[in-house]
Amino acid sequence: MHKNIDKIKKLEGPPQIVKKLFSKTELDKFLELYNKLPTTVHNKKQNVIKKRWLKNYSDELENIFIDKVKNEIGEFKMDNLKDENNEEILGLFQESYNPIGLHVDAGFNLDEIIFKQTLIPLTSKGSTVIFKNKFYGNSTNFTIDENELKVKDLKYGQNLRSSEHLKLFETKKFDEKDHEKYLKHEKIENLSGLEIDMVYEWEIGSMLIFDRTRLHCSSSLIEGKKIGLTTFTKK
Ligand SMILES: [Fe+2]
Repeated sequence: MHKNIDKIKKLEGPPQIVKKLFSKTELDKFLELYNKLPTTVHNKKQNVIKKRWLKNYSDELENIFIDKVKNEIGEFKMDNLKDENNEEILGLFQESYNPIGLHVDAGFNLDEIIFKQTLIPLTSKGSTVIFKNKFYGNSTNFTIDENELKVKDLKYGQNLRSSEHLKLFETKKFDEKDHEKYLKHEKIENLSGLEIDMVYEWEIGSMLIFDRTRLHCSSSLIEGKKIGLTTFTKK
């Protein structure tokens, strides 16, 4: 559990969509950067390509990004991981053809005061489901898949696997209509006790900001591939 839960809770608020934040030119620059960056993970089974936003590839984009985020959430620090060469990782580009499962991006250090995370869509088709439910441990994938739960040999920066969310929240059956509409890629039993707060429909130029304690996942509505850039902040 996070040590500064009280402080973390005080910083929490509703998810926020900021529209028309990035211009076409700025988004093109993000895509250019994405193409330039080395591939970190290409998970063929899940069909996900991940690239880390490494520092010093584009000072211009770093400054634009930080200014715009500061304007929305006030003072913050980037909660960056380091790569093998001790370079700072500012965020994560994910290109996926399949929806990403239920998880929380609460970080890997329980001493930090985690704050907000941001999502910038770089393609227009996609959506992200934010639940009302919160979690105060480390970054975790929530699953009832026995094989997934067996995965213990985690590398630095990899999410834990757990089904403990099912013990934390009231085990009311998840809404069947919502399941059918947005979350067909998740077993409905894995969503017991969860309640949707918001479905963010990806829109070019906009940015989603939400608390790092929120459970979330992609919705099952994907047409072709989607590319998004996620970053994490702390106080
Ligand atoms: Fe996430």
